[in-house]
Amino acid sequence: MPELIPVLKKNDINNMVAQVARRISSDYQDHELILIGVLKGAFVFLSDLMRHLSIPVQVDFVRVASYGSDTSSSGRINLTKAIEIDVKNKDILVVEDIVDTGLTLSYIIDYLKSFNPKTVRVCVLLDKRERRQAKVKIDYACHEVTEGFLVGYGLDYNEGYRDLPEIYHLQF
Ligand code: IMP
Repeated sequence: MPELIPVLKKNDINNMVAQVARRISSDYQDHELILIGVLKGAFVFLSDLMRHLSIPVQVDFVRVASYGSDTSSSGRINLTKAIEIDVKNKDILVVEDIVDTGLTLSYIIDYLKSFNPKTVRVCVLLDKRERRQAKVKIDYACHEVTEGFLVGYGLDYNEGYRDLPEIYHLQF
């Protein structure tokens, strides 16, 4: 059995989410903001984030499948759920759990830009900056991580551990 090593406690996560929500609320005052969550991993973060925002938002989701090993994506990405809200001329904020190589977000940003939104920015809970392959601008990152595979708070390993309220390093 892999070992779970604590990385972020409930309180740490709550403070990070509240802090990033304050920045987003201030940056998007008087804008019509649409949050686009990336399923499945981001749904926990997105639901906490939107409840910390002090501005009204609309919410939609995309889902992508990426084929690779258990712990890293190959870059071969397929869209398996499209957006359903009209985003033309709207401000979009993509909400993702973790960015690693950046290939997933880069694909999603290109997909969303094809609907001619006014702006597309990105908010991630965790930024694994060291392994980046695609150039993606991360506008809001709650926390930077250096290495390892993380689970909990929506992040999974083979569909397990998403339900854990805190974030752990999965040590194989
Ligand atoms: P990227 O395309 O390499 O940036 O990978 C991003 C996707 O891989 C995220 O949406 C996650 O679903 C998954 N991922 C990357 N690193 C981790 C991790 O440490 N734990 C869980 N999922 C991860």
